[in-house]
Amino acid sequence: MSSTDTPQPTYSQGHSASVVASHVSRTVENSASFLTPHLKPDFTIVDLGCGPGTITRGFCAFVPDGSVIGIDSSAAVIEQARSLAVGLASGESESGASSAAEGLKGSYANLQFRVGDITAAPLPFDDDSVDVVYTHQTLIHIPSPIRVIREALRILKPGGILAMREADHAANEPTTPPLEQYWQSIFASARAMGAQGEGTGRRLHLWAQEAGFERSKMQIGAGATVYTAPDEAKWWAGVHIGRLDGEIGERWLRDKIVQSQHEIEDMKAALRAWGDSPEAWYSVMQGEVVCRK
Ligand SMILES: C[S@@+](CC[C@H](N)C(=O)[O-])C[C@H]1O[C@@H](n2cnc3c(N)ncnc32)[C@H](O)[C@@H]1O
Repeated sequence: MSSTDTPQPTYSQGHSASVVASHVSRTVENSASFLTPHLKPDFTIVDLGCGPGTITRGFCAFVPDGSVIGIDSSAAVIEQARSLAVGLASGESESGASSAAEGLKGSYANLQFRVGDITAAPLPFDDDSVDVVYTHQTLIHIPSPIRVIREALRILKPGGILAMREADHAANEPTTPPLEQYWQSIFASARAMGAQGEGTGRRLHLWAQEAGFERSKMQIGAGATVYTAPDEAKWWAGVHIGRLDGEIGERWLRDKIVQSQHEIEDMKAALRAWGDSPEAWYSVMQGEVVCRK
């Protein structure tokens, strides 16, 4: 597994403020409730592609006698994950003395974040050593998801759990051609990097079988993320307008995901109009699969 001194894998969305803003809205409650009934207090949980770690740190309360380790290829986002958790832990202590360098305390004493490329096998864990591997909105961006799942199988203890939650497809109401083009372009940018993009959620159980998990030991389900008018829709539109104004717009032009700045401006106007609509509704269907080793 690579570290900070080796090139980082390219993540099609990048880590601009507007990308990370959507990741930090995620919690165990809204993104991992299909896993929590399976957790026991002494479990070790590894979160692959943990991003800013808001879900990762949420697992700590479920495994007070165990440990939680988040891994991401971006050193900057891991630093952010650590700082966010240290800030919360400091708020708990009277001295407020905890720092990123000292490590985590309080409710997060059992939490670690590491920089690493999860596609560069082997993952840094022994065979049969981990209770739970969780991954959320990460395999959708990765060209070799089966390799990652095979590694998850190797590090899990017998009876251990792989829990995956990945988007499948999105829908907006009201919708317009530039809005449809925006969502298609998001998925296309993942496909341009060799990843599956759209349709990932429906394939998780197939990839898990290819990697060696048994179908008879899987729970294959789905959930949804929904944002509606007024506040959530305005926020969600703003997040995506911010992405188009930043490095994603530039990359889409360079990679010919869009043909002109004019198309980007049309998408931004469509997002703004959708976010302002009193009827605004957005959903993304999420594949949720739990596999037992
Ligand atoms: C959409 S974000 C999801 C973050 C988090 N799981 C969440 O749901 O909020 C995908 C994350 O996967 C990370 N990632 C992409 N490719 C990776 C790789 N090869 N190894 C480790 N992390 C990777 C990205 O840096 C990014 O933070």
